Amino acid sequence: RPPGPLAGRRVLVTSGPTHEPIDPVRYLANRSSGRQGHAIAAAAAEAGAEVTLISGPVAIPDPAGVPVVRVETAREMLEAVRAALPADLAVFAAAVGDWRPAAEQGHKIKKDGAAPPPLALVENPDILATVSQMSEGRPTLVVGFAAETDRVLDHARAKLARKGCDLLVANDVSPAGGVMGGARNTVHLLGRDGALETWPTLAKDEVGRRLVERFAALLART
Ligand code: C5P
Repeated sequence: RPPGPLAGRRVLVTSGPTHEPIDPVRYLANRSSGRQGHAIAAAAAEAGAEVTLISGPVAIPDPAGVPVVRVETAREMLEAVRAALPADLAVFAAAVGDWRPAAEQGHKIKKDGAAPPPLALVENPDILATVSQMSEGRPTLVVGFAAETDRVLDHARAKLARKGCDLLVANDVSPAGGVMGGARNTVHLLGRDGALETWPTLAKDEVGRRLVERFAALLART
């Protein structure tokens, strides 16, 4: 492989949804397909990086030449991320479940009661915030994603500040846009300095390549 713009760089990418178990046969999940995260991992490998892709359950093929660590839950994803560090660049494209059932039942919950069972939730660890705020071993460039259905840029700006990442890629996942599970994406890039770019609607593969080009340019400056 020819030395590309990310040659010699270690890159970690999270992708896909998480599955949070309710009982042995049921789980909470979301509509993430993993297509954007996988495209970023593939593009980073093409650019010469040593890539680790940490993926929740997806139905798409592994990117060529990229080792994939498969996980189900947010807690497993956080552990896999810790194990994959150190890295120069970490891209958190996974749609991590914000909540998980407070208790996983060891047996299938039966429909025999009069009322439906309550489903108490607890918060999952925030992987992006955890890594962004590491005092030791923080990757040089930490990139977050923001999937929003309304006031995309307002929410994205707030998220960038709250999480502590260096760059945020925001996309509109309103059902009408077909982004979740679809092949195309319209993204906005937000920098910590307030810089904002809106890219045209592109194939997720192309978004992946252009993002990787951008990440390489930012890393080259450090
Ligand atoms: O807060 P929200 O989930 O909207 O933030 C999205 C960004 O945070 C994405 O980059 C996602 O991968 C990351 N995230 C995470 N761990 C969570 C929740 C979100 O890494 N528990």
